[in-house]
Amino acid sequence: MSVARGITREDLGAFVLGTTRLGDPALDRASRMALAMEAQRLGVGFHTSHRYGDACDVIREAASLSRTGPPRCIAKVGWNEADELVGQVEDHIRLLGLQRLAVVQLCLDGGLAKDYASGGEGCEAVARLRTEGRVERCLLQVFPWSSGIALEALQRGHASELVDGYIFYFNPLQRCVSNALWEALQEAGAAIVGMRTLAGGDIETLTHGAGGASEYLVERARAVEPWIAASGARDWIEFSLRFALTAPGVVATVGATGRVERLERLSRESRTAIEPLPREVAENLFALQREWADDHDAHALPGSL
Ligand SMILES: NC(=O)c1ccc[n+]([C@@H]2O[C@H](COP(=O)([O-])OP(=O)(O)OC[C@H]3O[C@@H](n4cnc5c(N)ncnc54)[C@H](OP(=O)(O)O)[C@@H]3O)[C@@H](O)[C@H]2O)c1
Repeated sequence: MSVARGITREDLGAFVLGTTRLGDPALDRASRMALAMEAQRLGVGFHTSHRYGDACDVIREAASLSRTGPPRCIAKVGWNEADELVGQVEDHIRLLGLQRLAVVQLCLDGGLAKDYASGGEGCEAVARLRTEGRVERCLLQVFPWSSGIALEALQRGHASELVDGYIFYFNPLQRCVSNALWEALQEAGAAIVGMRTLAGGDIETLTHGAGGASEYLVERARAVEPWIAASGARDWIEFSLRFALTAPGVVATVGATGRVERLERLSRESRTAIEPLPREVAENLFALQREWADDHDAHALPGSL
């Protein structure tokens, strides 16, 4: 088996552009192309999937038009069978116009999840993709409902051979892994890629429950809002970036925007020396996250967070 090497901030850059907006047909293609070209110009990587509309096409075309070299991508692959996962690696390579994928997000379900926990055949298929050079690094996607499997594999040692890091929702309102897995990741010094930098949008929208935010997020936004002023951060964007990028183990944060000027800000502020939030503020957020993990997330149904 190939041995995982860990993933670092240099591999991905601190801010990675999520591409749900880049594949959103509600936005005209020219503005999505401009966004992707700006990401390429700034050296910002993409988090993408062949299921995000035509995001992969837009990325490929933008990279080719801007002549900025191959795009640096995290591609989502899975789900139930090894053949399915291998097929999706090949699909992404083709759609993105690459020779290989720099990073894949392993979304494991069914037989693949069982194999992962027990070191079964599916693991061999993933290891082969790496030795054959089709995939360079692997991040395991985790949710509260799959934290048990990830923990088991970590404890049995399979993870150290296959997985270079873990990817899950991580922002001031969400830390979507169980407390037991979070502690084990911290102890192991595992690399973490956080998703949903802004928990889905601006804090005002979240506290007012606009934009379709779930009730649990609205409650959390109201609990966290007073800490923004207390932290000295000028707004939710700075607060969220500082929270995500100074938490132990976090190497990158994946966030989305459809606007070039917002991408420029996210990229710029994630590159400058990132000041941790004041200790009291960070500790309060971590305490809230521990509480939410047991009181709410542990009982959440798959897909409900
Ligand atoms: N299971 C998975 O793999 C999974 C699940 C969810 C998400 N993701 C990934 O994570 C990415 C990010 O997720 P997300 O969109 O939920 O998270 P997000 O980054 O927390 O929120 C994005 C929202 O924030 C808004 N925003 C950005 N900058 C802003 C600013 N300066 N002021 C006010 N609002 C601002 C954007 O609006 P505008 O577009 O109008 O700027 C957008 O609606 C996705 O694109 C996807 O790649 C992966």
